[in-house]
Amino acid sequence: MMNVLGIETSCDETSASVLNSEFKILSSVVLSQDEIHAPYGGVVPELASRQHLTSIGYVVQECLERAQLKLEMINAYAVTQGPGLIGSLLVGLSFAKGLAFYFKKPLIGIDHLEAHIEAAFLETREIPFPALALVVSGGHTSTFFVKKKLDYELVGRTRDDAAGEALDKIAKFLDLGYPGGPIIDGLAEKGNPQKFTFGLPHMTDGSLDFSFSGLKTAALRLIKENKLSKGHPLLFDFLASFEMAVIRALLSNLVQAIKLFKPESLVLCGGVARNKKLRRHFTEFGGKQSLPSFIPSPEFCTDNAAMVASLGLVKLKSGKKFSFSLDLNAYPRIKGSDLQNLYK
Ligand code: KG4
Ligand code: ZN
Repeated sequence: MMNVLGIETSCDETSASVLNSEFKILSSVVLSQDEIHAPYGGVVPELASRQHLTSIGYVVQECLERAQLKLEMINAYAVTQGPGLIGSLLVGLSFAKGLAFYFKKPLIGIDHLEAHIEAAFLETREIPFPALALVVSGGHTSTFFVKKKLDYELVGRTRDDAAGEALDKIAKFLDLGYPGGPIIDGLAEKGNPQKFTFGLPHMTDGSLDFSFSGLKTAALRLIKENKLSKGHPLLFDFLASFEMAVIRALLSNLVQAIKLFKPESLVLCGGVARNKKLRRHFTEFGGKQSLPSFIPSPEFCTDNAAMVASLGLVKLKSGKKFSFSLDLNAYPRIKGSDLQNLYK
């Protein structure tokens, strides 16, 4: 029996998780920093890395206690290498590196987006390949064609804001609180999504990239024109309409991608995949396309280390050799990284 400890600190969640060689989650601890960043309406990188530094030891300790394991019983370490906030990444990476070095165990560097896709496999290993995976988070909105495990092709990515970022920014502008995505999710349930009209963004060059800055500008214009603010009678309708516009932008892009790539299944993942309306529409959409669709449970959509440990285990089982990797480094952005062939 093998135990893999995953560590995730790419943004504002400090997380550790242990999976055994059957991919069973023995424990998963996620410590959110939402309260720390809420007064600023967004993640403050310096505060995030300092908080990771304070929390990481306790989070790993708690994770081991819940799994009833000692560090000596961990056979490999998996840690997020990027993309993410560099200071935050370095905390998790250095912690994992120290453990792997001390115990002379393999250390596996994990790509954050690839880990989000892996989250869909935590609860079912039966996703038919090839799959189209939509990663929708606060930092990313990308579609990948997943030919098989560890074999991906980038289909499209956002050229400006990520979907979650657009939701967070509109919520911040309306002073609704932080993070905005889950707040809009709750309030939009009470509104009429047909009340306000938003155009569908589309790429003039025929690419499958996304763009959310146009939607965001249109939303800001509507807020000003209608003098929308907290307590306004049309606020819920506006939020429902904006949320629906984001969902339509995601799904219409997927229609094109399905025509081109002819996948056998659809995967939705990343923090925004927690959104109740998006989950419903994505599942309905899959049905209409006659494709099975998979969405991780909400707790595995937002950043977590279970998806990191799981991908570490997949990589270990692929037969590739890993050492305690003293030269492993962190990558804040996708470009220029040599993580793997994800963006070839
Ligand atoms: O994957 P994640 O935890 O971090 C990144 O890798 O970015 O995603 C965080 C994003 C934030 O933008 C947050 O507002 C959004 O996910 N989010 C939601 C919901 N829960 C989290 N967006 C819409 N509805 C939700 N329920
Ligand atoms: Zn993420």
